[in-house]
Amino acid sequence: MKAIAVHPGKAGSVHLAALPRPRVDEVPDGRGVLVRVLKVGIDATDKEINEAKYGAAPPGYDFLVLGHESFGIVEEVGARVSHVRPGDYVAATVRRPGSSIYDQIGTSDMTSEETYYERGINLLHGFLTEHYVDDAEFIVRMPPGLAHLHVLAEPMSVAAKAVQQAYEVQRRLKVWRPRIAYVLGAGQIGLLSTLILRLRGLDVYTLARSRAPSRNAEIAEGYGATYVSTSDTPLSDLARRVGKADLIIDATGSSAVAFSAMSVLGHNGVLVWTSITGGREHIQVPADQVNLDWVLGNKLLLGSVNGNREHFEMGIRDLAVGEVTYPGVTQRILTNPVEGLENYAEAIRLLVEERAALKVYVDVASG
Ligand code: BGC
Ligand code: ZN
Repeated sequence: MKAIAVHPGKAGSVHLAALPRPRVDEVPDGRGVLVRVLKVGIDATDKEINEAKYGAAPPGYDFLVLGHESFGIVEEVGARVSHVRPGDYVAATVRRPGSSIYDQIGTSDMTSEETYYERGINLLHGFLTEHYVDDAEFIVRMPPGLAHLHVLAEPMSVAAKAVQQAYEVQRRLKVWRPRIAYVLGAGQIGLLSTLILRLRGLDVYTLARSRAPSRNAEIAEGYGATYVSTSDTPLSDLARRVGKADLIIDATGSSAVAFSAMSVLGHNGVLVWTSITGGREHIQVPADQVNLDWVLGNKLLLGSVNGNREHFEMGIRDLAVGEVTYPGVTQRILTNPVEGLENYAEAIRLLVEERAALKVYVDVASG
């Protein structure tokens, strides 16, 4: 079967590879689930892997199959699988366990090991192919009524984890009543975080460089958030106008912005960083000021990566509540379908060149 792959470490190496079709009994103990891939989303991570900024092939291979945002239909299940059946729509989690205690309890997103295993990213093949097989533990059911949001299950799990982690750590306060949230970045993670925070009743300001009108601004406002272009209103002006934030989620992919967010966080607040930047940038920061603010304001900086099964389930529930609260808004994120695995070059081109491409995904097969 066909697959879209790269040679990790070699920039611009995206190509069509061939793989044998997997069998359900490759997973031991009757726990296998064979999935026919329908759609796979791609994002900045895939772009940066193709730019050789990170990513590694599985042992024994000189290529890595891309794709970590999957949506498919179950074709066959092993004898001991009960939570999904043939015909169900499913997404798959991305990380696979290493051997730390966090991995052993189903939270490999919190692994304490330096090496991590992620399908389509690091040391494991991804989903940009025709079929995949995996342990039932990593397969999450998507309700048929959300099939139109398909590849958003994975990015939603990343946003769901970021927000959940913020609320978890804030239990350090006997009571936390966040009112103002800033979401930095209006890409998929920024917009989905906006949705989750609006569903929790916060006043959300979603910030990005480009000026409204734009699709991104309309989606943020469709969720009842206020869209702010930092070209007109720098972060510090916003903070002066509406107050510093209780919660900030950075999803810009810019380390400079991630650091600048530190000066607009209110007392007792939490700043969550979600994007990884494969570059080597050095910047100057007002270190004394941040140090002072951080200590005197009991502030917290939190990194959040990936999402485990629980976050997929949470994210899927929020997608469903989002559909009845803000009908028709979330599907506007899904901007750029690419027909067929053969069109890998076009998929990468859209990621690199098309600034308005909010979400590129490959239509692998029809379901
Ligand atoms: C993926 C996450 C992954 C992270 C780091 C993101 O693009 O959505 O699942 O953990 O990259 O590799
Ligand atoms: Zn991703």
